[in-house]
Amino acid sequence: MALSLVFVILSVTLPFIAAVPSPATTECTGTISSLSDVAAAVKCTTVNINAFTVPAGSTFELDLAEGTTVNMEGDVTFGEENWAGPLFQVSGTSITFNGNGHTFDGNGAFYWDGQGINGGVTKPDPMMKIKISGTMTDVKVLNSPARVFSVSNPAKLTLSQITIDNSAGDASNSKSGSKSAGHNTDGFDVSSNNLTIENSIIMNQDDCLALNKGTNIVFQGNTCSGGHGISIGSISSDATVSGVTISGNTITNSDQALRIKTKSSATDASVSGVTYSGNTASNIRKFGVIIDQSYPSTLGTPGTGVKLSDINFTGSKTTISVESGAERVAVNCGSGACTGTWDWSELSVSGGSAGKITNFSGISGYSE
Ligand SMILES: *[C@@H]1O[C@H](CO)[C@@H](O)[C@H](O)[C@H]1NC(C)=O
Ligand SMILES: *[C@@H]1O[C@H](CO)[C@@H](O)[C@H](O)[C@H]1NC(C)=O
Ligand SMILES: *[C@@H]1O[C@H](CO)[C@@H](O)[C@H](O)[C@H]1NC(C)=O
Repeated sequence: MALSLVFVILSVTLPFIAAVPSPATTECTGTISSLSDVAAAVKCTTVNINAFTVPAGSTFELDLAEGTTVNMEGDVTFGEENWAGPLFQVSGTSITFNGNGHTFDGNGAFYWDGQGINGGVTKPDPMMKIKISGTMTDVKVLNSPARVFSVSNPAKLTLSQITIDNSAGDASNSKSGSKSAGHNTDGFDVSSNNLTIENSIIMNQDDCLALNKGTNIVFQGNTCSGGHGISIGSISSDATVSGVTISGNTITNSDQALRIKTKSSATDASVSGVTYSGNTASNIRKFGVIIDQSYPSTLGTPGTGVKLSDINFTGSKTTISVESGAERVAVNCGSGACTGTWDWSELSVSGGSAGKITNFSGISGYSE
């Protein structure tokens, strides 16, 4: 009796056990050595990427299952063609992306003409489109045609130990005349929430960070050189930026160290709750700190449609050294647009000339 019952249970359950591995993703390991491997590999929750070349005109696109771990095992390089890109795109939730020090090589020199996305040939832009939550670490990006990372994470994401090396674009070439050949090579363009970018190195010719909108953003322990410094903006109509910490970064050989720029035409927008702490900057060519509501002009007639509040330099000292032709601090607010008291007691700027603070008297703890 007992024996036949066991037999019945087994014969009923076994077919179901055999059917279990049928869902769309499994705990297999998928390996990518060419674009034709991608569709099968993303069905697995471990994806290994070997060295390969992505054919010109194609996006290497990974649409990953929840919880996937990606391991780069070699360098990925992209074929050359004048098209819109992106070159690489990754999406998914709770992803662990391990670059293991490997490189995505955009072969930027093929495209660079000193005009970036504002002219010249069509360039893949952005190079890297990141739409994951989780972590991405230890990835190198070499020679982006134009903007490097565009980040729009669906939930909390930490990017760490990312190296962006566009330094080869500093030199001019036959198409750029006397200008740097690399142009509009923003390091990280962010319109997103709950994002940390840390311990990364950015060598480029434009903004190190361009934060266009978002809340709960941390940018810490990064090194920015060659470009336009760490920027909030440019802020457009209806954009909100709040809860931003910019701390422990090093900025060298850049136009600005720290900047907030809002469009003069923008309406119904705000930037609030920005804390700068423990940043160090040197060899700054134009402005140490610039908060300017007149974009696209620089220190032109400011708009009043973006409210600025709670912009502080607190915690540990932010120390900026500017070059002789530069201004230390410039603040250009629209009438009534900058409000409250801003605690700037942990800001120290040396070199250059003072710069002007207009239409705002709420800065405390700092004098020019
Ligand atoms: C950001 O994270 C917080 C805390 O986990 C969460 O409540 C909030 O919904 C997140 N915001 C967005 C827009 O994802
Ligand atoms: C900025 O400083 C002001 C003035 O001390 C303070 O009221 C405000 O809470 C500070 N904001 C943040 C985000 O720390
Ligand atoms: C103050 O802001 C208004 C616009 O809101 C602008 O027209 C004016 O030039 C500003 N004042 C100064 C001294 O810059």
